Amino acid sequence: MKKFNHVIVRRPCKAMVEGITSGLYPGKPDYELALKEHDDYIEALKKCDVDVTVLEADERYPDSCFVEDPALITRACAIITNPGAESRNGEKDEIIGAVRKFFDDDHIEYIKAPGTLEGGDVMMCGDHFYVGRSARTNEEGIRQLTEILAKYGMTCSEVKLEEVLHLKTGVNYLEDNNMLVSGEFVDKEDFASYNKVVIPEEEAYAANCIWVNDTVIVPEGYPAVLKAVQDLGYKTLTVDTSEYRKLDGGLSCLSLRF
Ligand code: GLY
Repeated sequence: MKKFNHVIVRRPCKAMVEGITSGLYPGKPDYELALKEHDDYIEALKKCDVDVTVLEADERYPDSCFVEDPALITRACAIITNPGAESRNGEKDEIIGAVRKFFDDDHIEYIKAPGTLEGGDVMMCGDHFYVGRSARTNEEGIRQLTEILAKYGMTCSEVKLEEVLHLKTGVNYLEDNNMLVSGEFVDKEDFASYNKVVIPEEEAYAANCIWVNDTVIVPEGYPAVLKAVQDLGYKTLTVDTSEYRKLDGGLSCLSLRF
């Protein structure tokens, strides 16, 4: 099934080495290696039958390669979010230009203060969106998102986060009712109706895979997850994201897919 035609990514900037990190995966990113991994990521996406818009690095925002957070793109509209991380908030103003190439102003919506929302907290399952209430996404942000989605005939429900940074740090939808779940999401009632693939704790990072037009991109180095995804019948590609992992970032964070 072809669902996505476009992908937007932003090149990592040199300042990425100062990006936000929980320290869960220790070490400073190696910038040169991060660039190579980003090249590989773009190549993998191109194999999934999408065109890839590559935005220039933005040195003002160390985390700006994680382009999924300042915008959410749906089948009917684009939503510019209001990132809850202060050092990342300005990224929302820098993504608008790219989004305008695909949506007219009548179909670009905005999450406004005091609402905060980051795209990493939003998981699209058809026309329903699960939204993590996290340190970055607040109740008012979710209220505004719910209102915007309703305008376009889509729905939304809140999932409370206890441990992870973003919702998609721990749970990701692979279409066809298949969902990768790890940690705090394994037994969540919200996801009871899906075919859940439980990710072993030692491979928890790889819960963050992305489905792109029937291919699933899996982070390199997680054999149990790779096999589980292949057993579901998907074509797979692997990309090493070691330098982004040090900033708590994963495959989904690095692109907008629509
Ligand atoms: N380093 C990615 C983030 O914390 O948003």
